[in-house]
Amino acid sequence: MNKKEQWDLLARDCAGCRGCALCQTRTNLVFGVGNPEAEVMLIGEGPGEQEDLQGVPFVGPAGKLLDSMLEMIGLDRSKVYIANMVKCRPPRNRDPQPAEQQACRAWLDRQIALVDPRIIVCLGRIAAMGVIKEDFRITREHGQWFTLDGRRCMATFHPSALLRDPTKRPDAFMDLRALRKEIRESCSRTY
Ligand code: URA
Repeated sequence: MNKKEQWDLLARDCAGCRGCALCQTRTNLVFGVGNPEAEVMLIGEGPGEQEDLQGVPFVGPAGKLLDSMLEMIGLDRSKVYIANMVKCRPPRNRDPQPAEQQACRAWLDRQIALVDPRIIVCLGRIAAMGVIKEDFRITREHGQWFTLDGRRCMATFHPSALLRDPTKRPDAFMDLRALRKEIRESCSRTY
């Protein structure tokens, strides 16, 4: 199977997922968006209201902020791939439960394997704990680089957290600068 066929198969398998109870309340499953050959992959937490309605990650208020954050370092959705820890909206935007993340994990792992990014950026605590390490402390460890399976991984604040608490924005900006530097060092096709 070529890459396109593998992506089509993955998207088709995932679209019918009934692996946890979140499937019962979703409007749309939110698979992922962006460049399937990106060197940089962003991982969020899970769909919110707008994402559930439109079936696309980060299209609500947090998504607008994410787009401006990407723009600050010369990126846009054509240069990155964006996915979430869980593909269906948790009711009332609560945190996805560990069992829901577990049930959804294989989809994310297959997306990571197909994109094969050089760099993974976790958006917020939930993604950082799922992808980097279970005891990740976002306030202390945001902006730090970890190497996992040969990929450079970092977490920064979730855009929703930056909307709630703008005092975190200067720290997030430093993380973005660190990302730009890492892209220059580790990637060959992004800039
Ligand atoms: N928050 C997330 O973590 N992911 C989305 O897709 C939207 C909001």
